[in-house]
Amino acid sequence: MAERRGPDRWFFDVWSRFYDAPLVQRLTYRPEHDAVLRGLRRAGSTRVLDVACGTGLLAERIRREIGADVVGCDFSRGMLAQAARRRRADALVQGSALALPFASGSFDAVVTTEAFHWFPDQAAALDEFYRVLAPGGRVLVSLVNPPLAVMGDVAHRASRLIGEPARWPTREGMRDLLQGSGFHVESQRLVFRVPATLILPSILTTGLRPVRI
Ligand SMILES: C[S@@+](CC[C@H](N)C(=O)[O-])C[C@H]1O[C@@H](n2cnc3c(N)ncnc32)[C@H](O)[C@@H]1O
Repeated sequence: MAERRGPDRWFFDVWSRFYDAPLVQRLTYRPEHDAVLRGLRRAGSTRVLDVACGTGLLAERIRREIGADVVGCDFSRGMLAQAARRRRADALVQGSALALPFASGSFDAVVTTEAFHWFPDQAAALDEFYRVLAPGGRVLVSLVNPPLAVMGDVAHRASRLIGEPARWPTREGMRDLLQGSGFHVESQRLVFRVPATLILPSILTTGLRPVRI
């Protein structure tokens, strides 16, 4: 599947050098990682795909704290190089969220944190998550879901101006997107992040790929 206009990989390649800074992680990413780990524990997942894994910090915690086999996938060589240097996943694969290089039904959980807004075709990405999940598997997607659609529109316009178009769906928009790809939405939980929670709440949305009899 050809990727339409979207974020350039060089942007993430450069970003990968600063990404693991403790303050950046503490304020931005770690609370979402904690929420995903709780969700995976509840689900009892053992074969996990971390899509847009970045430098692999979440992947490493999934392996260490849950004991699951974890594959990290990202389209940025810079991010994957950082993850590989620290051996943060059982396997690291370069690939796009819109055309995952994995066989159907390979995983019992697909997670993605602070990346979904970059995917140029979010419905296509969710279709791919559904495909690579085994029936009964779960998708866990965490990102900022603005409370009002107009806030997402303004942020989208601003991101286009700086040449990195991104889309932040509302909480209801996320629900609709997951349902559109065939998932049953199990929960949507607020991720508490200081100081962003009130204005720009992060939500962890969990969907189940139903088992059809
Ligand atoms: C903000 S980082 C988040 C990294 C990681 N998930 C975390 O929580 O630490 C966003 C990541 O998304 C990746 N990314 C963006 N668009 C992508 C796409 N279409 N396919 C694969 N990876 C993508 C970037 O390369 C980058 O590593």
